[in-house]
Amino acid sequence: VQPDTAIRVALGDRSYDIHAAPGLLSRAGSLVRPLLAGGRVFVVTDDVVAPLYLGRLEMSLRAAGIDSRHAVLPAGEATKCFARLEGLLDDMLAARCERSTAIVALGGGVIGDLAGFAASILLRGVPFLQIPTTLLSQVDSSVGGKTGVNTGRGKNLVGSFHQPRLVLADIDTLATLPPRQLKAGYAEVLKMGLIGDADLFAWLESNGVALLAGDAACRQRAVLASCGAKARIVAADERESDQRALLNLGHTFGHALEAEAGYDGLLLHGEAVGIGLLLAFDLSVRLGLCPPGDLARLTRHFADLALPAGLPRLPGGRRWSVERLMGHFAADKKVRDGRVTFVLGKGIGRCVLCSEVPPDILAGVLGDAICRGESGDVP
Ligand SMILES: NC(=O)c1ccc[n+]([C@@H]2O[C@H](COP(=O)([O-])OP(=O)(O)OC[C@H]3O[C@@H](n4cnc5c(N)ncnc54)[C@H](O)[C@@H]3O)[C@@H](O)[C@H]2O)c1
Ligand SMILES: [Zn+2]
Repeated sequence: VQPDTAIRVALGDRSYDIHAAPGLLSRAGSLVRPLLAGGRVFVVTDDVVAPLYLGRLEMSLRAAGIDSRHAVLPAGEATKCFARLEGLLDDMLAARCERSTAIVALGGGVIGDLAGFAASILLRGVPFLQIPTTLLSQVDSSVGGKTGVNTGRGKNLVGSFHQPRLVLADIDTLATLPPRQLKAGYAEVLKMGLIGDADLFAWLESNGVALLAGDAACRQRAVLASCGAKARIVAADERESDQRALLNLGHTFGHALEAEAGYDGLLLHGEAVGIGLLLAFDLSVRLGLCPPGDLARLTRHFADLALPAGLPRLPGGRRWSVERLMGHFAADKKVRDGRVTFVLGKGIGRCVLCSEVPPDILAGVLGDAICRGESGDVP
């Protein structure tokens, strides 16, 4: 691996490398082998990814003398739950996983979050490796050590911090990713630019179309830029006492939209985050924090790339409601002393935390978004 295809997450004796390059699956065995004490791994994947990439990974592991077992779970957000976690832990114990057996997540953020959580509690913690195969997981969820499952009361409310020992983002795997999933992951790249890297945002304005269309060099560069930015933030604030909270840009809105839409595919996480980015900048403009021109620039970028920008129609004749969305904010993990913290933009590439948002202004942002959605008049 060339040095410029790797990024180090600096966390003392838990530091690790992120590699982003084409062809990494076929070289996984030799990259993983030096990190294994026991020479054994347990691969967790889903039933969409398994037929595409599990064979290639296992062949490479075997060639490096690594003994591997695997579990294949149903694809989709519903898999990130307690029942699947329990079944997975049982599979791992049945396969005689030991303290030195590394758990490998091969798939998107669902598999990464679930397998990482399992690795953090199996035998009180075993090594964990990430091989993310969606754009979202390559640019975001595979880095930083947050793991967990969803409960009936909301997303990601139960979990742990468990850093991986290695992240291998094989850019080639993105070639089979459906366009909708690609766009969802793109929202998290955009987020990184908006938070603290105006140059990245400007680069995306020029290269976003090529990235979505399949340009591998653009994809690699976006993954490295996003992971580099996230690695710096995580190294400075692993447990989210302040700086790491900036990564929640678009997510307070996004999580509320996801919760209302349900988790059955009407609104993907990245789609909700993308809309959330627009709403966060809309809010920032209304609070007088952000120049309106920056919101216009962001809105234009959504149009240029045909990214989902408005609320989808809810099934079963249900309507979006400001009150219900506001209710979801109160259930957000980021509430402290009853106050919701929002990440706001002072401009593109400059975000800040704010826990003093007047409810009437917030309600105005949501109400207008709902009106635009219902009239089909998406910005
Ligand atoms: N831990 C974190 O820090 C963090 C950060 C952001 C998001 N997340 C979590 O990540 C999850 C979303 O992750 P996601 O968007 O990767 O979803 P996902 O894991 O559900 O993957 C999306 C779909 O793409 C399929 N797929 C995966 N790789 C493919 C490939 N190469 N080719 C074709 N199909 C492929 C999957 O089978 C699935 O159907 C959410 O649960 C979210 O909460 C976690
Ligand atoms: Zn996210």
